[in-house]
Amino acid sequence: MPHQFDFLVIGSGIAGLSYATKLAMHFERLNETVHIGVITKVQAEETNTKYAQGGIAAVWAADDSFEKHIDDTMIAGDFLSDRHIVEIVVNEGPERIRELIDYGTRFDKEHSGTDYDLAKEGGHSDFRILHFKDITGAEIERALLEKAASLPSIEIFTHFYAVELITKHHLGETVHRYDTDNHCYGAYVLNTQNGQVERFLARTTLLATGGIGNIYQNTTNPSIATGDGIAMAYRAKGIAKDMEFIQFHPTALYEPGKKPNFLISEAVRGFGGILRTRKGETFMENYDDRLSLAPRDIVARAIDSEMKKAGDPFVYLDVTHCDYDKFVEHFPNITAYCRDHLGLDLRKDYIPVVPAQHYLCGGVRVNEWGQTNIQFLYAVGECSCTGLHGANRLASNSLLEAVVFGHRAYEKTVKQLGGASVPTNIPDWNDAGTTHPEELVLVTEIRKELESIMSNYVGIVRSNRRLKRAMDRLELLYIEHEELYRQSKVSVPICELRNMIEVAYLVIKMAMARRENRGLHYNIDNVKLADTQIAD
Ligand code: FAD
Ligand code: SIN
Repeated sequence: MPHQFDFLVIGSGIAGLSYATKLAMHFERLNETVHIGVITKVQAEETNTKYAQGGIAAVWAADDSFEKHIDDTMIAGDFLSDRHIVEIVVNEGPERIRELIDYGTRFDKEHSGTDYDLAKEGGHSDFRILHFKDITGAEIERALLEKAASLPSIEIFTHFYAVELITKHHLGETVHRYDTDNHCYGAYVLNTQNGQVERFLARTTLLATGGIGNIYQNTTNPSIATGDGIAMAYRAKGIAKDMEFIQFHPTALYEPGKKPNFLISEAVRGFGGILRTRKGETFMENYDDRLSLAPRDIVARAIDSEMKKAGDPFVYLDVTHCDYDKFVEHFPNITAYCRDHLGLDLRKDYIPVVPAQHYLCGGVRVNEWGQTNIQFLYAVGECSCTGLHGANRLASNSLLEAVVFGHRAYEKTVKQLGGASVPTNIPDWNDAGTTHPEELVLVTEIRKELESIMSNYVGIVRSNRRLKRAMDRLELLYIEHEELYRQSKVSVPICELRNMIEVAYLVIKMAMARRENRGLHYNIDNVKLADTQIAD
């Protein structure tokens, strides 16, 4: 028998939980019983959200303004952001953050104990980052999970892995990418405890599956970030957008062989941290007037260039001149990690840092309500592309986007519900003719090759030749893996690799199509031209 829900939420980070809690509270207020299923591929708290350090951006200080936050977002996005969406997110942000506080999220306050302690990060013209120490994401995730647990209509399924979205295609109908009458009815989900693929049917489905970091060798993203939602939506004939805009965080800790890379928050530079070459010389004055606090694309490219010039595997971040006690108070997690893992004493030692993949600005294209082009399929959070980030995301704007769009998707879901229904003839998952693969070494090797292709040819600095080489190599991996996939019973490693190959394809395809350098996309063969249109 299939699982039947009113609402299916795929993902338990800030995006999925914001939406699920809103829906649950809405129907509780109406005294209506609904069933909301939230699925997550590992433990519920293991999300990108949990690792967010710096905080969540919003206009909070009396002398700050919506206009300034809007302008900062547009400038960081190299004017490819959709201004209407930027206005929505910035204007609605403070209200959504107040709700997080109502759910029990703690943000640090100033010593007076009344005003919030607002931090500043790269690209922000004012102090507007609410944070909890340097573990803001873990605090938000804790509060949201507690809130969800208090709402009886929400059921969280941990260790359940969504394999495929169920659409009209599964009823035998042919669907094209730009059809407007495709319809989502839920998902085929692998119960990883018993290996069975089960039908999770729902009137409305929300994708909140997060990022794609693991297609690269160096990433700050945890292992769950394999682009599953984007790949599933694309296979179901959803539309992907802006995939070429991959954000590399300038300052991940240099720890060879470690994946994910531990992040040294941008807030450390906001606190006074200074970038230096391995010889101890400052260099940001050669790149941007905003020095170490220039937007991320500029800082990451500057570091990349200094590392290449000197042949060094890292640069340094210097906080030795900062007030140590205050530093520890703000960044207890970073201080402890540097001490315990690298034996660093930040009063006298510099921190070795290197850029690492951090965030995907693109994703499944959605409208201002989080709706995809597939009826009753929404996407929110890092897996979506709302138009907020344009060519580059402003620091701490992603948690903000997720809460604002979680709310907007909830509002639309409630309005749209009348039209939603699920047919009774959704077939079982068909794995006839497949077997358990005898060994998974091929999967491991293809995955390593994929990471290497993306890191070497589709990184911070690109060229036409590198991109072509990447596409040619990827095609071979795709052919090899599809054969394996067709013969095998589904398993998480095989499905994740399939999804990673698919999102890598989208990144390369859109990077090849963008014939100008904007924001995070930098191709040495391009000159900066007027905006060009990218085919979806
Ligand atoms: P996630 O929080 O990643 O949640 C994804 C969920 O989807 C997980 O529950 C996962 O299990 C589930 N999932 C995925 N695939 C499947 C599947 N196939 N089946 C079932 N479940 C699935 N942003 C800021 O604004 N401020 C910051 O300070 C900040 N710091 C960051 C620091 C780090 C180290 C990192 C990695 C990111 C940071 N970001 C920050 C970015 C931000 O954390 C993320 O963009 C945001 O948390 C994404 O939230 P999400 O809900 O979209 O996805
Ligand atoms: C950080 O703390 O540097 C991460 C902030 C972000 O990704 O928005």
